[in-house]
Amino acid sequence: MKPIDWSSTSAAPLRGELVVPGDKSVSHRAVMLAALADGVSRIDGFLEGEDTRATAAAFARMGVRIETPSPSCRRVHGVGLHGLRAPDGPIDCGNAGTGMRLLAGVLAGQRFDTVLTGDASLSRRPMGRVIEPLARMGASIQAQAGGLPPLHIAGGRALHGALQVLPVASAQVKSAVLLAGLYAEGETEVREVHPTRDYTERMLAAFGWPVAFGEGWARLSGGHRLCAADVRVPADFSSAAFFLVAASLVPGSELLLRAVGLNPRRTGLLTALRLMGADIAEERRREEGEEAVADLRVRHAPLRGIDLPVGLVPDMIDELPVFFIAAAAAAGTTRVTGAAELRVKESDRIATMAVGLAALGVAVEERPDGAIVHGGPIGGGRIDSHGDHRVAMSFAVAGLVAGGAVTIGDCANVATSFPGFVELANGCGFALSTQPD
Ligand code: S3P
Repeated sequence: MKPIDWSSTSAAPLRGELVVPGDKSVSHRAVMLAALADGVSRIDGFLEGEDTRATAAAFARMGVRIETPSPSCRRVHGVGLHGLRAPDGPIDCGNAGTGMRLLAGVLAGQRFDTVLTGDASLSRRPMGRVIEPLARMGASIQAQAGGLPPLHIAGGRALHGALQVLPVASAQVKSAVLLAGLYAEGETEVREVHPTRDYTERMLAAFGWPVAFGEGWARLSGGHRLCAADVRVPADFSSAAFFLVAASLVPGSELLLRAVGLNPRRTGLLTALRLMGADIAEERRREEGEEAVADLRVRHAPLRGIDLPVGLVPDMIDELPVFFIAAAAAAGTTRVTGAAELRVKESDRIATMAVGLAALGVAVEERPDGAIVHGGPIGGGRIDSHGDHRVAMSFAVAGLVAGGAVTIGDCANVATSFPGFVELANGCGFALSTQPD
C-alpha cells in the first residue's frame, strides 16, 4: 500500500448534511451470516471498506457467490451452514481484527483446515482471547508465540457447547464463541464483564436462529439453520464521531449526520461529549432493520474537561482517539481510566494519541490504562498515525483548531473503515490535503 500523508489546517465553520458510510461491525456480520444462510440475502448500506471487503473476499474464496449490484449493496448466495468449501490457500483478513476473530469462530466448526493471516498491525494483535474459549468448545487453533496471527485452524473437530465467562469486554470474542456455537452440540452461553455491542445476537435472530440474549449475556444451541434475510446497515456511529467532535470544536459550525446507528453499546461518546457541554440533538429517531437510528444535529459549543466515567469506556472504545482530541481542545483537565484495551487496537492508541498530542504542544500524561489530558491551545506539527485509521482521522479533526498545519503520516489505512473520508470532510468545510509520503 502506498503511504499517504495528510495535512489538516484550521477551517471556516463546518456546515452541511452528511451520510457517513455503513457500520463496519454490522457489515462484517451481515456478510458472514448471509454466506452461511440458506437462500439469497441482500445487504444495503454495506461498508465498502478494506476490512469488510476482506471478509466478503474470504467467503468468496470458500465458494460463496457474492454479487455487487451497485456500490454499498451485496447479493449473497448463501451456501448453508455446512456448504463452505476449503479455500485454496491462506485467507488474508487485512487490517481487520473483527474479521479474523469472528472468522476463527466460524472456521473452527468446518470440516476443512484454514489459515488466517493479516497485515503488520493485525499480526501484532492478541488472538489468545478467542483461541482459549474456542478451545474449551473443542476447537484446535494454533497461533504464533504470544497468541499472534497467523492462525492455523484445524477442521473436522466436534465442537460442544459451553458456558463461557469472558474476562475481557469484547464483542469480537463473544461473537466468535456464538458463531462456533452454531456448529456445536448442545448449548453455548456467554457472560460478559460489561455488556458489549449485540449485533451478532440481533442478526442471528433476524436470520432465524433461536437465540436468547440480554444485557451482558447470550445463549444459543447448535442444530438449527440460518434463513436468508435482507439487511439494512446503518451509518457507522464510529465514523460519525469525527464529525460530532469536529463541529463541536469549530466555532459557528452546524452539521446534520443522517441515519446514524445508535446501538446503546456504541454511543458512549454522545454521553461523554454532552457531559463536556456539547450540543448534539437526535432527530427523527426510528428503527431501521434491527437497529435504532437517528439524524444527529451537532452545533458548536465550548467544551470543558471531565473525569470520564469508567463505565462509559466500553461503549466508546473506538471513539477514544477522537475523544482525546475533544479533551485537548476543552477547557480544563480530562481524565480517562479503565481503557487499557486501547493498547491492543490497530495501534497502541494510548501511546499513539499521547505522543501525537504532545507533538502538538498539548500537556498529556500517559497512564497504563488511559491518560490525563490538560486542555489548552493545540499547535501545528507532525504526528505519526502508525497506520491506524482512527488515529489519522482524529488528528485531522485536531488540525481544524490547531494554531498551524497538522501533518499526519501514514494515512492510507483510513480506507479500511472510512473510504471517502477526505472528500466528505472537505465537502463540509475541513481543509485537508493529501500527498504521497
Ligand atoms: C468490534 C468490537 C470491538 C471494536 C471493534 C469492532 C466488533 O472490539 O473495538 O472495532 O465488531 O465486534 P473488541 O471486541 O476487541 O472490544
